[in-house]
Amino acid sequence: MCGIAGYVGPKNAVDVVFDQLKRLEYRGYDSAGIAYLQDDKIAVTKRAGKLSELGKVLFESPKQAELAIAHSRWATHGGPTDENAHPHYDQYERVAIIHNGIIENYLELKEHLIAKGHKFKSQTDTEVAAHVIGEEYANGVSLEEAVRLSAKRLRGAFALVVMSNTEKDKIVCTRNASPLVLGMGVGENLLASDIPALLPYTREVVIVEEHVVAVLTREGISLIDAEGRSLPVKTTHIDWDIASAERGGFEHFMLKEVHEQPQVMRQVVAGRIDEKSKIRLEGIFGENVWNEIDRVNIIACGTAYHAGLMGKHFFESVLRLPTDVYYSSEFRYGDPVLSPKSLAIFVSQSGETADTLAALKLCKDRRIRTLGIVNVIGSSIARECDRTIFTQAGPEISVASTKAYTAQVMVFALLGLYIAQVQEVPGVKVEEWADELLQMDGFAEQCLKLEDEIVTLAGEIKDMPLCFFLGRGADAFVAAEGALKLKEIAYIPTQEYPAGEMKHGPLALITKDVVSIFGATDPRIREKVVSNMKEVQARSGKVIAIVTEDDTLTEQAADHVVRIPKTKFEFLNALLAIVPLQLLSYHIARLNGCEIDQPRNLAKSVTVE
Ligand code: M6R
Repeated sequence: MCGIAGYVGPKNAVDVVFDQLKRLEYRGYDSAGIAYLQDDKIAVTKRAGKLSELGKVLFESPKQAELAIAHSRWATHGGPTDENAHPHYDQYERVAIIHNGIIENYLELKEHLIAKGHKFKSQTDTEVAAHVIGEEYANGVSLEEAVRLSAKRLRGAFALVVMSNTEKDKIVCTRNASPLVLGMGVGENLLASDIPALLPYTREVVIVEEHVVAVLTREGISLIDAEGRSLPVKTTHIDWDIASAERGGFEHFMLKEVHEQPQVMRQVVAGRIDEKSKIRLEGIFGENVWNEIDRVNIIACGTAYHAGLMGKHFFESVLRLPTDVYYSSEFRYGDPVLSPKSLAIFVSQSGETADTLAALKLCKDRRIRTLGIVNVIGSSIARECDRTIFTQAGPEISVASTKAYTAQVMVFALLGLYIAQVQEVPGVKVEEWADELLQMDGFAEQCLKLEDEIVTLAGEIKDMPLCFFLGRGADAFVAAEGALKLKEIAYIPTQEYPAGEMKHGPLALITKDVVSIFGATDPRIREKVVSNMKEVQARSGKVIAIVTEDDTLTEQAADHVVRIPKTKFEFLNALLAIVPLQLLSYHIARLNGCEIDQPRNLAKSVTVE
């Protein structure tokens, strides 16, 4: 998510880490900061906004240091302010740290530290981690030992980088889930969250394994494992050019973002499901409000609208809570009938979509409660809504939305379960759902393993004149998102329909070249979907089915069957089906030579009506 940089060596470390941050700018961020040694103190300069804002204050006077760490932040805990920007000091200002990821147990740790007299200056989970490290360090151990011991006390996904004002020659870092790479130079060493920030300095890279603590000095790099045992240092030579390094070695940002979905699924639930499998959602309405809400209206555009359809499905089928979904552009001019006890939910990756923002203002004028499901912290929709849940998907660069969609749907499930927990809705097994949500990353990994099969399939159907996306129940809503992906990046006409509706008109379009992709992930209605598949086959149309791995019904009616993992809940099966659909759209577009990350006529953030 955020950018990490660090340097120790003979060059001016301040200049090097600033340059490294510039090389990570393409990822998006909302504030930045740097720490370096000045005499016996760690100097920290940080600013909200672009790197140029940091540069203005940092380079007011010349700075010289042999060791520095720096960070560009994409806000998660606490808004994008100077105080919340990294680096953060510990209680005694003896260490400074930067951090990517989310510390799930930061609230319990913070309470424990406050009870011991610690004072905090920011709202971040990172500052809590800094104080934990500072507490260990105050016991007289080495910096690497303090980091190793602290990492055992932290839960969540993190890459942590630490410097101190007493061991002035070293940077120490560790990671769990969040990425971190080291660059081995000659008489100098570096670290970064991503390879592009290392390439101008070295092409010899050390990938830090999870739970390993690394120590960088001018002379070298050493590694220890979680138990403090020394490990061998293995380097990998990177020969990517800078542009492909920015995409993590993937050919396009879209593919990178599709592959990030397991990690995003982990991030969405991070800190939101506790050890007892209860849902913890911070900063939303109080319990009395959830008990009062009589209806939900979900308002969004494009992919976010499709996530809203999944939200409706969850709220109605699991909670029996009446829910409508509106396109923002229709809602704002539609003179909607709104119950004063209703809740309006605005879904947006960018948080800046003009129609959604206008619909939000309409609800506020009518004094309707508003809740945002937004990816970009500090965005207009996040600021304007009464309450906001952040999707924590990290910056999405490709115009075609992929990981934001899965994150939005996961948030709807979390929110729905939270409401069920508050209202004690009979029959909803919140803990079972929560446990399954925690496993979604693994299921998504399995879906990504289908890629070779999908590439072959893409080659077989890439010239189709028309593609139907069909399903029943939640599969019909995922079909809508699959159809949008294919049309927007591969420019192939697509049409989504509930499978049972085909015979009422659309079947007239079926010919031997037309492809129909059926989602049939719900065993309860699979037989019905198979009947619809047969209707298409009988008219010589080509049929592809996406089913769960246990299916035995669809082979008879499909030309190709794609099998995804089976979860405990049909809703989650349907969500997983989006992964092969995203991959299929991507590979068709690639084989057809389309401009994938920036499709014609489209923009990432639609800030005009
Ligand atoms: O930033 P938002 O989520 O509000 O954007 C909404 C749509 O413009 C967006 O989802 C669009 O449909 C994507 N290009 C779809 O891939």
